[in-house]
Amino acid sequence: MQVRHAVIPAAGMGTRFLPATKAVPKELLPIGDTPAIQFVIDEALGAGIDHIVVVSSRHKPGIESYFEPRPDLVEALRRAGREDAADRLAAVGRDWRVSIVFQDEPRGLGHAVGCAESAVGDEPFAVLLPDEIMGDSSLLAQMNGVCAASGGSVVALKAVNPEEVSAYGVVDPMSDPDSDGVLRVAGLVEKPSVAEAPSSLIIIGRYVLTPDVFGEISRLRPGAGGELQLTDAIRAQVDRSPVHGVISTIARYDTGTPLGMLQASIEITLRSDELGPQLADWLDDL
Ligand code: G1P
Repeated sequence: MQVRHAVIPAAGMGTRFLPATKAVPKELLPIGDTPAIQFVIDEALGAGIDHIVVVSSRHKPGIESYFEPRPDLVEALRRAGREDAADRLAAVGRDWRVSIVFQDEPRGLGHAVGCAESAVGDEPFAVLLPDEIMGDSSLLAQMNGVCAASGGSVVALKAVNPEEVSAYGVVDPMSDPDSDGVLRVAGLVEKPSVAEAPSSLIIIGRYVLTPDVFGEISRLRPGAGGELQLTDAIRAQVDRSPVHGVISTIARYDTGTPLGMLQASIEITLRSDELGPQLADWLDDL
């Protein structure tokens, strides 16, 4: 079954990006002319998803403004001959649908995903953390396929140096990965100490989850950092259904810090046909 819904948790206050994020949500900070969240949405659309559920905060009205239809702007762009830009603006609500739900208190990633339950319904769905931008849609598409074949949830993984694991969710693999990088997961732990980590395979910000995870979220108790952790809800699923991990090999940009955002801006723009060569020349001169 094709996964149709993608949940994007975007209720965080972006404290690492203050003062910029006092007025502009972190997810709308631009890479070139495109807000960071749009890269994540385009990744989801490229994997066949057509319903985007943004979990936002009442303190971030800019998120709602970004998705509001603006026929006047579309018209102005068309008059100026900027058809591509006009088509991009017009696509919201025409080619894909967006729902905005609110997380009123910052109680953790598990809680944020739980806020999307009524918008998602009783179907498998993807979760994309917007602090990470992926090079393309292939990882998410592969994860959709693993979920459809196994009937269980799927997390994206990356192998890191053992000393880096404490900032992430970490999986306990049941076996070595197959030739496609897919492995069965025996357990998951959120932000373990280096000594307690079951492996050095961290969860990166892409998930395809079966809807029974909402029941597990509703039963969550505070976990690492006193928050309701999505990792703990998926660990509860392991007892009932096969959970898999897919080791990612695609490009991944961490935009969660100002430096990471700057690096992502430069790398992504260097790859663009339009601005890449000019930016490369300028960097050479610099
Ligand atoms: C969240 C998840 C964690 C995952 C990480 C990926 O952590 O809880 O399991 O490894 O995203 O970026 P956070 O970055 O919100 O602390």
